[in-house]
Amino acid sequence: MGMQASWSRRWHVGWLVAIAVAGAWGLAPQHVAAADNLPQAAKVCLVGVGPGDPDLITLRAINAIKKADLVFCLESVKTKFAEYLAGKEVIHGYWRLFPYYGQDPSQLEADERRQCEAMAAKRNEFIGLVRGAVGEGKTVAIVDSGDPLIYGPWAWCLEEFEDLHPEVVPGLSSFNAANAALRRGITTSENTKSVILTAADWLGTADTIERLSAHRTTMVLFTMRTEFKEFIDKLSINYPPDTPVAVVKHAGYAGKEEVVHATLGTILNRVGPDRLPFEYLLYVGDFLQHRYKKAR
Ligand SMILES: C[S@@+](CC[C@H](N)C(=O)[O-])C[C@H]1O[C@@H](n2cnc3c(N)ncnc32)[C@H](O)[C@@H]1O
Repeated sequence: MGMQASWSRRWHVGWLVAIAVAGAWGLAPQHVAAADNLPQAAKVCLVGVGPGDPDLITLRAINAIKKADLVFCLESVKTKFAEYLAGKEVIHGYWRLFPYYGQDPSQLEADERRQCEAMAAKRNEFIGLVRGAVGEGKTVAIVDSGDPLIYGPWAWCLEEFEDLHPEVVPGLSSFNAANAALRRGITTSENTKSVILTAADWLGTADTIERLSAHRTTMVLFTMRTEFKEFIDKLSINYPPDTPVAVVKHAGYAGKEEVVHATLGTILNRVGPDRLPFEYLLYVGDFLQHRYKKAR
């Protein structure tokens, strides 16, 4: 015990000395250097700014925003990060432009064709603004909450602007913030070690909730306004009713975050008739009850 404590003290002192020496030699600590690790040439950047409160943004994302001349984001993001956006040209009003991207409208039925064409018109407006700005030598940041590549509505841009070599700044996902709210090792339970991130079943996808849940591994559902009961009904086909379930609302907001624990058989009653917010994740799996120390 005594030896362990003195080893740990020496380790800490060693680090303090190393940091002081690095400072004296003009070597900045690692996290400061990391703030400027953006690729110099990127003219279009897709920037993830994390979920919840503004302090969950990364230094790299702050730097990417600072370097941008033109920023596209939601109004809520503009309010949340007003500090970094002050004095910049910020455009909102372009959102969810991915439906029908890459589809030929002439292949669609009348109603869908109209929707596809309306979406394409809006999308082309946005593409024109981005290309126009880059043509004028400006740097464009498309700012998205969470991690932009996990069910991110802007991922299509990376293909659209491929010729401009866009960069991505990763963000903390709501998945990470919700794991923290649960205070459990998401990859650890008695019988499983894997996590499936999924969402409501879309037409044409083979990995349906029913099929995925046959593995009975841990599953996390991004909900995007899907009816809650629809998820529970599908999960109940293959998971037993006593499977632990949790709903995490407003992950990452210190004053607002909320966790509801139940089982698959009881969650509908626990949640009640009130509409869940847009920002919630649904967790299913034994990890929610896993304990390293077994009851004797
Ligand atoms: C379009 S997806 C975007 C996910 C985002 N890219 C991310 O990495 O967190 C939106 C869904 O993410 C989940 N979500 C986003 N923010 C959340 C939060 N703060 N707390 C819980 N769930 C959240 C909800 O399921 C919401 O319907």
